[in-house]
Amino acid sequence: MSGSFTPHAVLVTGGAGFIGSNFINHFMAGNPGCRVVNLDTLTYAGNLENLRSVENKSNYRFVKGDISDGGLVAALLHDEKIDAVVHFAAESHVDRSIMGPEVFVRTNVLGTQILLEESRKHLQSGCVDDFRYLQISTDEVYGSLGKTGYFTEETPLAANSPYSASKAGADLLARAYHETFGFPALTTRCSNNYGPYQFPEKLIPLMIHNILAGRELPVYGDGQNIRDWLHVMDHSMAVETVLKKGRPGRVYNIGGNNEWKNIDIVNLVCDLMDRKLEKAPGTSNSLITFVKDRPGHDRRYAIDAERIKRELNWEPSYTFERGIGETIDWYLDNREWTDQVTSGAYRDYYRNMYEARQ
Ligand code: NAD
Ligand code: DAU
Repeated sequence: MSGSFTPHAVLVTGGAGFIGSNFINHFMAGNPGCRVVNLDTLTYAGNLENLRSVENKSNYRFVKGDISDGGLVAALLHDEKIDAVVHFAAESHVDRSIMGPEVFVRTNVLGTQILLEESRKHLQSGCVDDFRYLQISTDEVYGSLGKTGYFTEETPLAANSPYSASKAGADLLARAYHETFGFPALTTRCSNNYGPYQFPEKLIPLMIHNILAGRELPVYGDGQNIRDWLHVMDHSMAVETVLKKGRPGRVYNIGGNNEWKNIDIVNLVCDLMDRKLEKAPGTSNSLITFVKDRPGHDRRYAIDAERIKRELNWEPSYTFERGIGETIDWYLDNREWTDQVTSGAYRDYYRNMYEARQ
């Protein structure tokens, strides 16, 4: 562990997305003296609704903009005296990367390089004394596992989808900036997150959304692919821990030690939904439909998170039973959120509103 780092002004990129917004809500509650600047271009996945609890705080600022806009990034770093960057902004959905890889390379690779370069120049300018850059990465950069074994931080990168290849490219750039320029970049690689505010294109919220709509529940291939699931609040706490206590240049895996076959998790969501909606057992399961597999579909992910536990004393706090129950309750209590984020009119409304205010 390197000594403790206390940030004074954090630039969070992609803070209107699923994990970024959960992180901001968590971090601002525990760090009232720290300024948080949220830079997000508001793609379909960014929703300011997620940030209602912080939007009026004097130490919070939202800026609608692109991480690839070097001039904007440089101005924010300088004007806000930023001493930490937490980089969530990305195109994050594997299926979309198969349909159209280009924007993934533009945002995830080129955008990251611009952010790194502007951050390096900012630190070099002497504007701040100390600085940390945290690259939020994914276990998908390691590729796919067989029936046994775990990804460690030493596992070679072997990305299989355009999404994971673009994230691996970004990881390597962060590593290169540390090795070449001595730039204080840290990297986290986390497994599948679940929790509130996740866009209903990802497995768990999609299943909840479709059950509510009485639509089919598409399970890819044979449903035997395995993912490790972690509650987004545990991920947020891990990110804060790495930012404050991690060693620059180091990679930290983050995982829930919570492996599930896709078909089992879909069945679990169905059973819980039937109970909560007081439907006959089996009602939701009858909607399950096996569909054509995702091309290049990774078979199994599993994380060895011993390093972050041993060196930084982080462990997940949510049991899956609690996390999945609370998540389903959240979606049931916030149906209008899903309706809004899936409606183009809502997104246009927010875009226009914020453009008018800037
Ligand atoms: P998300 O798709 O919900 O949110 C991404 C956010 O980034 C959105 O608010 C979007 O508007 C913003 N964004 C996109 N392009 C931008 C650009 N060019 N400039 C500024 N903002 C831009 O994603 P998420 O699921 O919250 O994931 C956040 C990060 O965590 C990503 O880097 C992802 O690779 C990583 N990650 C996600 C998971 C997961 O399970 N969701 C797991 C591990 C790592
Ligand atoms: O592992 C971390 C990654 O987890 C993150 O880096 C990504 O940003 C995030 O999107 C997530 O990627 P996955 O591809 O694992 O998540 P997704 O929710 O899309 O799919 C989870 C599993 O469920 C995967 O094996 C594909 C399967 N699936 C998914 C959907 C959307 C289905 O069977 N049916 C579906 O409709």
